[in-house]
Amino acid sequence: VTLAISIRAARHDELDDIDRITVDADQRFTAAGHPELADGETMPRTVAERAVAEGRILVAELDGTPVGWVYLGRIGDEPCIGHLAVAQRHGLRGIGSALVRAAIALSRARGAGSIVLSTQRDVAFNEPFFARHGFVAIAPRDWSPAQHAVAAAQASAGLDVATRAFMRRAL
Ligand SMILES: CC(C)(COP(=O)(O)OP(=O)(O)OC[C@H]1O[C@@H](n2cnc3c(N)ncnc32)[C@H](O)[C@@H]1OP(=O)(O)O)[C@@H](O)C(=O)NCCC(=O)NCCS
Repeated sequence: VTLAISIRAARHDELDDIDRITVDADQRFTAAGHPELADGETMPRTVAERAVAEGRILVAELDGTPVGWVYLGRIGDEPCIGHLAVAQRHGLRGIGSALVRAAIALSRARGAGSIVLSTQRDVAFNEPFFARHGFVAIAPRDWSPAQHAVAAAQASAGLDVATRAFMRRAL
């Protein structure tokens, strides 16, 4: 099947679409045993506005409508995939993979030597999915101070840090 997907920088007027995609996409976590990750939380608007202005949010557009998106943030001095979401009815067709490849290409084009992310170890569409895209888990003893700070923030937000992993891909 050929999909009319295009990946491009998000526009400011698409932030409501992005929020809707996030809430829908994250419902998968309930079936995957992590309802705490399906809490309806979306990216703070100020963070999203700034990321759009800096070209760090990409959307996957299908027939003129955003159906998925990826956000490039930073952990310490490395770019990170800080958010990735595809609407459930458009899942399992390679759109998430296309967004990951686009985030990798954008980071490389901006001169980064590596890219990191924080994800669930025990969810099929998280660590195993990113491993197929060349990301490798970082052992806790090798975490940077910034990664420890992210883990501490996740713990105080109620996440089970024992089931989380940081992963890195060289560019
Ligand atoms: C992760 C996500 C963006 C993938 O989107 P997608 O368009 O379905 O991605 P793809 O079709 O490219 O690949 C999905 C992969 O997950 C695998 N998968 C396994 N079980 C799955 C499940 N229950 N639901 C979805 N995907 C599943 C698929 O087999 C596929 O693997 P592949 O590499 O063999 O193709 C989407 O599942 C999502 O929005 N999840 C909720 C948010 C999230 O987990 N974000 C990342 C947090 S770090």
